[in-house]
Amino acid sequence: MRNDPILELLDVHAAYGRIEVLHGVDLTVPRGSVMALLGPNGAGKSTLLKVVSGQLRATSGHVHLGGTHVNDASPDALARAGLCTIPEGRSVFPNLTVTENLRLAAYGGVPAAHVYDVAFSRFPRLGERSNQLAGSLSGGEQQMLAMARALATNPALLLVDELSMGLAPLIVKELYEVVAALAEEGVSVLVVEQFADAALAVADRAAVLVHGKVVATGGPDEIAADLTHLYLGGAP
Ligand SMILES: Nc1ncnc2c1ncn2[C@@H]1O[C@H](COP(=O)(O)OP(=O)(O)OP(=O)(O)O)[C@@H](O)[C@H]1O
Ligand SMILES: [Mg+2]
Repeated sequence: MRNDPILELLDVHAAYGRIEVLHGVDLTVPRGSVMALLGPNGAGKSTLLKVVSGQLRATSGHVHLGGTHVNDASPDALARAGLCTIPEGRSVFPNLTVTENLRLAAYGGVPAAHVYDVAFSRFPRLGERSNQLAGSLSGGEQQMLAMARALATNPALLLVDELSMGLAPLIVKELYEVVAALAEEGVSVLVVEQFADAALAVADRAAVLVHGKVVATGGPDEIAADLTHLYLGGAP
C-alpha cells in the first residue's frame, strides 16, 4: 500500500471575490483513513471542500490529490482521478425514483446492474423503496441514496459535507457505520461536520478549522477534549 497521502493541502488560500475565506490551510489526509474536518459556522469548511473538488480555485497554495498537483484540474478530471463529493444538503433528484437516481450514477462503463447491487446490498432499505420517488424518502434515506450514488463511482477519496445535517442520531450513526466500512475497504474519506460526535466516533484523525485556518490536528479523543476551547478561542 502506498503511504503518501491521498490529499494534501499546503498553505491554501481561497476567496470569494476580494473577501478571503481560507487564510493558508494545511491539511493532510492519509490513504485509507477517515479524517473529520470540524469547525464552527462560517469557518470555511464547505469552501475548503469546494477548493478540493475544483468548484473554486485556490488563490494560492497547493492542492495535491494522490501526489498530483490538481489546483487547476477540472471537476471532471478530478472525478476521473477518483474524487467524489457529496455536497451539503444531499444531492438526489426528488422527482426520479431511487432506481432512476442510481441509474444516473452509472456511467463510464459501470453497468447499472452493478450500481443497483452495490447500493441495495449496502442499504437494503433503498432496495425496498427502489420504485419510490426520491423526494418521498426520509432525510436519512435520501442521504443513503446520495452515498450510494457516490459509491457507484468507486471513489478513492470521498468528500462529505455535513452528513448528519437535520437527521436523527440513530440514522447518523448508521450512515457513519457505512463511512467506517468504506474506510476498511480502502476508501479515504474527508468528512465535514459542525457537530462533532458522530464524525469523531469513526474518524482516525480530526482537524479543526477556525476562521479559515487549521488550528488543531490530532486523534479524535484529543480533538474532542479540546473542541470547546478551540471553537471559542480560535487559537491553539
Ligand atoms: N458563495 C459565496 N460568496 C461569498 N461568500 C461566501 C460564499 N460562500 C460562503 N461564503 C462566506 O465564506 C465564509 C465561509 O463559509 P463556508 O460555507 O465555507 O463555511 P462553513 O464552515 O462551511 O460553515 P457552515 O458550518 O455554516 O456550513 C462565510 O463567511 C461565508 O459567509
Ligand atoms: Mg458548510
